Amino acid sequence: MLDIERDLSDRAAIAGFTQQGAVEVARFIGALTRLVGPRRALELGTGMGLTTYHILSNLPPAGMLDSVESDQVLIEVAREAIGGDKRLKLHNRLGEDFISDALGSEGYDLIFADTWPGKYFLLDEVLRMVRPGGVYVIDDMNHSREWPDGHEEKGDCRKFGGQAAIAIGGHGSLAGWNRCPKPEPSVPL
Ligand SMILES: C[S@@+](CC[C@H](N)C(=O)[O-])C[C@H]1O[C@@H](n2cnc3c(N)ncnc32)[C@H](O)[C@@H]1O
Repeated sequence: MLDIERDLSDRAAIAGFTQQGAVEVARFIGALTRLVGPRRALELGTGMGLTTYHILSNLPPAGMLDSVESDQVLIEVAREAIGGDKRLKLHNRLGEDFISDALGSEGYDLIFADTWPGKYFLLDEVLRMVRPGGVYVIDDMNHSREWPDGHEEKGDCRKFGGQAAIAIGGHGSLAGWNRCPKPEPSVPL
């Protein structure tokens, strides 16, 4: 583990923040960032900044990253850990308000939607913010015992049918994916 990963993991444990991203997913999204080479990237749900760190570490020098978090305590941890990078803009506000303001702006080449708005609601709006050739990515799409009752019935979980669903291309909607049956794993889990 990198020092910053260990540090954020310790801080999350102390603060009782159980929603921190998995290190391997954060690294995967870092690798995806390197592949995409976004000029503009967006993370919805900063948490303490674990994935934010990995996106930043792989962002082109001229790139920029907006990251949005509603919890002031969490975002202050991120600010302390990585806030010195001038390519990063941390927004302490509701994701739904950010999305509403950002609609109609120039959009993003990479969007990691890691909270309710942009993932479980306002999905079509956020997909419209993906620039042509851009990437929208979410994780945690497989059923988890930690999900609260009724979470699965919110429906969008089954739109994607994969642990890390990636939709490539802009101006699209994942509506067609709704009709796709969830694929059975080819190797029994
Ligand atoms: C899964 S966690 C994010 C984890 C983070 N991306 C990481 O890599 O560790 C989801 C985050 O969304 C935040 N959140 C919840 N509702 C929100 C909202 N409506 N707008 C913005 N952030 C929200 C939570 O405080 C939480 O930190």
